[in-house]
Amino acid sequence: MTSSVGNIPRRRFDTLVIGAGGAGLRAALQLARADLTVAVVSKVFPTRSHTVAAQGGVNAALANVSADNWHWHMYDTIKGSDYLGDQDAIEYMCRAASRMVIELEHMGVPFSRLDNGKIYQRAFGGQSQQFGGDQASRTCAAADRTGHAILHALYQQNLKAKTHFFDEYFAIDLIRDCEQSVLGALVLEIETGELLIIEAKTTLIATGGAGQIFRTNTNARINTGDGMAMALRSGVPLQDMEFFQFHPTGIAGKGMLISEGVRGEGGYLVNSEGERFMERYAPHAKDLACRDVVSRAIAIEVREGRGCGENKDYVLLKLDHLGADIIKKRLPNIRETAITFLGIDPVDQPIPVFPTAHYTMGGIPTNRFGQVVSSQVGGAEETVPGFYAVGECACVSVHGANRLGGNSLLDIIVFGRAAGNHIISYLAENRYHKAFDGEGIAASIDRLAHWDRQGEGETVSNLRTELQAAMEEYCGVFRTEEVLTAGVATVKAIKQRLENVYLQDHSKVFNTARIEALELENLIDIALATVESALARCESRGAHSRIDYPARDDTRWLKHSLYHLKEGVVDYKPVRMKPISVASFPPKERVY
Ligand code: FUM
Repeated sequence: MTSSVGNIPRRRFDTLVIGAGGAGLRAALQLARADLTVAVVSKVFPTRSHTVAAQGGVNAALANVSADNWHWHMYDTIKGSDYLGDQDAIEYMCRAASRMVIELEHMGVPFSRLDNGKIYQRAFGGQSQQFGGDQASRTCAAADRTGHAILHALYQQNLKAKTHFFDEYFAIDLIRDCEQSVLGALVLEIETGELLIIEAKTTLIATGGAGQIFRTNTNARINTGDGMAMALRSGVPLQDMEFFQFHPTGIAGKGMLISEGVRGEGGYLVNSEGERFMERYAPHAKDLACRDVVSRAIAIEVREGRGCGENKDYVLLKLDHLGADIIKKRLPNIRETAITFLGIDPVDQPIPVFPTAHYTMGGIPTNRFGQVVSSQVGGAEETVPGFYAVGECACVSVHGANRLGGNSLLDIIVFGRAAGNHIISYLAENRYHKAFDGEGIAASIDRLAHWDRQGEGETVSNLRTELQAAMEEYCGVFRTEEVLTAGVATVKAIKQRLENVYLQDHSKVFNTARIEALELENLIDIALATVESALARCESRGAHSRIDYPARDDTRWLKHSLYHLKEGVVDYKPVRMKPISVASFPPKERVY
């Protein structure tokens, strides 16, 4: 498949949204409702986007179950972030949360109900009343299928608003002009292999995270960091990539998510001695401490020989004491998952769990309006005209070094809407398409031509498996300089081997093989950004635990990292410590 730019058909829209998960759909909805023309490009059918897999719920201080207040939520989010989150964005998100959840309810999201008819809220990790006091119940849930309920409601609302969907199209690269504006993207129709240029006055990336860089993960196979890699290739650095969240309770050895909602409903962890070990690590919050704390505790229990099973390599999540009624009503999906993948019914037996790669805290740097913030190495920051990013692929940064459970669904709806609103004002001032002469995609077409090669050589799947295994070995829950250095060398060697990869047989696996190859390129760049940023940060903060630098070091490291692909370097920028309207929360020791 060789194309010249002149042969490629073009379509024009006011806004191109790449990715049809909750973030992309919330932004698209705002725009379509404002009568703008919106194209949503998605490599899968929209309701298969990974938001569908979010289980436990979405945080908002509705105070339906415990006393609550957005300011307490803000405090918990900043403390949870290990003080690396930007406090203006966090205030904005927590203040908006209740309104956004009620709006979702009005769009048709079938939240679970309390007896009084109000939205059900469960306890989740790292959440408190009164700035660190008693546990709060802040997470609004639709049983344990909250993401599924939200994604379907947003998709239906978009159909009603006449958003234009390009289903099963793969975005290859952004189109940029010499003034560095973003003018749209080059995309490929997966079924036919035909290229299409989508020209847009504004482009928003919402392609989700990159959990597939790790072998054991909770993510869908589609989570290959495509949008982040596109941004990197176009010259935008990635922020805070060393902070990758390991969810404490993935099914041991397999990775599937067992929601924090299980512990929120009263489930707890035990080691091989039957001990509720979280009481030692987090005497106050216990099993509902933040995820980084619980993941480290499990890893330590296993390392010190108190793991369960033949190989002593997992702990047990006990929930049988909750009773069959609660499990079937509040956690039906968890029960089904345990039965399907383990043959275990949690009504009677505990679930074997171990930390599993879950969430990319870093991503494309943005401000709280979703505008992408670019910077040259060591240089001043500026927004890129017409370019936006929201959701897990973005780093706004509300999650800092460790995200609170229930804040990712909140992030996508709050900042999806905010970006939509900003685009509406931007388009009022920028009414015309910028001229695009085709120059900006020549390199992308060359890159694609590489994958016309058939023949003998390494396979995409082998290289991908090696990459995932390397990331698990060299960039896991605990890290050291020695291990990370080996990780950087290994990922770089894998990148070089891409040259020797050939597609095996076009006639049988034509475009799926090509897409997997393009995804592998993206995964490798994201893995490199992650491991290089982790090697550079010589402290322990949130999810980044360096055995050789066990303490948080605010004097030297209270700053965001920025990984630049072309130069292969990491540089830094300050954390925005100043909230919008309240006093800031200065860093203090983080105990649960
Ligand atoms: O545990 C969970 O249900 C996951 C929620 C989240 O990552 O926000």
